[in-house]
Amino acid sequence: MKVFITGGAGFIGSHLAERLLAGGHQVLVLDNLSTGAMANIDPYLDNPSFDYRIGTVRDGPLVRELVDRCDITVHLAAAVGVRLIVEQPVHTIETNVHGTEVVLDSVSRKRKPIVLASTSEVYGKSDKIPFAEADDLVMGATTHARWAYACSKALDEWLGLAYHRDKGVPVTVVRLFNTVGPRQTGQYGMVLPTFAAQAVAGEPITVFGTGEQARCFCHVDDAVRSIEGLMLDESAAGQVFNVGSDREVTINRLAEMVREEAGSDSEILHIPYDEAYAEGFEDMQRRVPDVTKLERTLGYRPETSLEQIVSDVVAEQRAALQSA
Ligand SMILES: NC(=O)c1ccc[n+]([C@@H]2O[C@H](COP(=O)([O-])OP(=O)(O)OC[C@H]3O[C@@H](n4cnc5c(N)ncnc54)[C@H](O)[C@@H]3O)[C@@H](O)[C@H]2O)c1
Repeated sequence: MKVFITGGAGFIGSHLAERLLAGGHQVLVLDNLSTGAMANIDPYLDNPSFDYRIGTVRDGPLVRELVDRCDITVHLAAAVGVRLIVEQPVHTIETNVHGTEVVLDSVSRKRKPIVLASTSEVYGKSDKIPFAEADDLVMGATTHARWAYACSKALDEWLGLAYHRDKGVPVTVVRLFNTVGPRQTGQYGMVLPTFAAQAVAGEPITVFGTGEQARCFCHVDDAVRSIEGLMLDESAAGQVFNVGSDREVTINRLAEMVREEAGSDSEILHIPYDEAYAEGFEDMQRRVPDVTKLERTLGYRPETSLEQIVSDVVAEQRAALQSA
């Protein structure tokens, strides 16, 4: 199968490319390298089953040409990361809404299947534990820029499901929860690579807020395995799936785990949200996926332990520090 991956030079996209190539598929990547990097796809450049183009998903003619060359599309390109979203709300909304519109319009012309990446952020401020796919989405005020990401992704979901219903396009939505692992950069506010880089450098580990907020972290290998499974399952079309781990950890405990794994004596420093982001920043205490539907559909649930995840990320940051 020939798979078109938008955002394929990014963190999740490059792992998906690697997995698909290893499984005998062909891969075509489109990426504008805004948060992705050539280094992520360097290892595949000599592979005859791999090809890439540098460009934007907002370029209709280019996207149509690449969609036409492939059997299926996985749309991952997006403006991501809480820091980027708070700092560049116009860029976020335009990339996520218009980019997805272009990609959906392109696949709809020949009714080609597509997997659309959404996010756990769409559950918003809901305090329900765990989040199931049919639950209500509870958004914050439009005056808080951080909700622009959630709303833009929710609109992508609405549009994707509308293409499925109105035009018969096989659209599958994956709501990714925190996904972590090698190649994720801490540059845009991602917590685990940031902690790991700080710990191996012996710098203070900066925890935003009280640190008692909890999250569930899924290894990228598990996430791309799930994306591939849903991509190959025709019965998944028209549906939404949570993809993530349901093991919770507080951010304080995560900081301690990283420090222990790194053998570091870094101080754990708490920074109020208002200082880390803009005043009035809102965050959720807990965010746990209900992965029953994923497990029922694929016969599989994300399984890499948090200890392994922390170990992989610390090892990568240590290697980066040593080669710097
Ligand atoms: N990593 C996570 O924890 C997580 C959680 C929820 C959802 N997601 C979603 O998964 C997808 C991939 O995220 P990621 O973590 O790999 O982040 P990433 O930033 O590494 O990947 C996004 C990629 O899209 C590219 N891109 C951005 N705008 C583009 C444009 N206009 N045209 C072409 N390429 C463009 C970037 O250069 C980057 O390579 C995103 O849709 C994101 O919303 C990720």
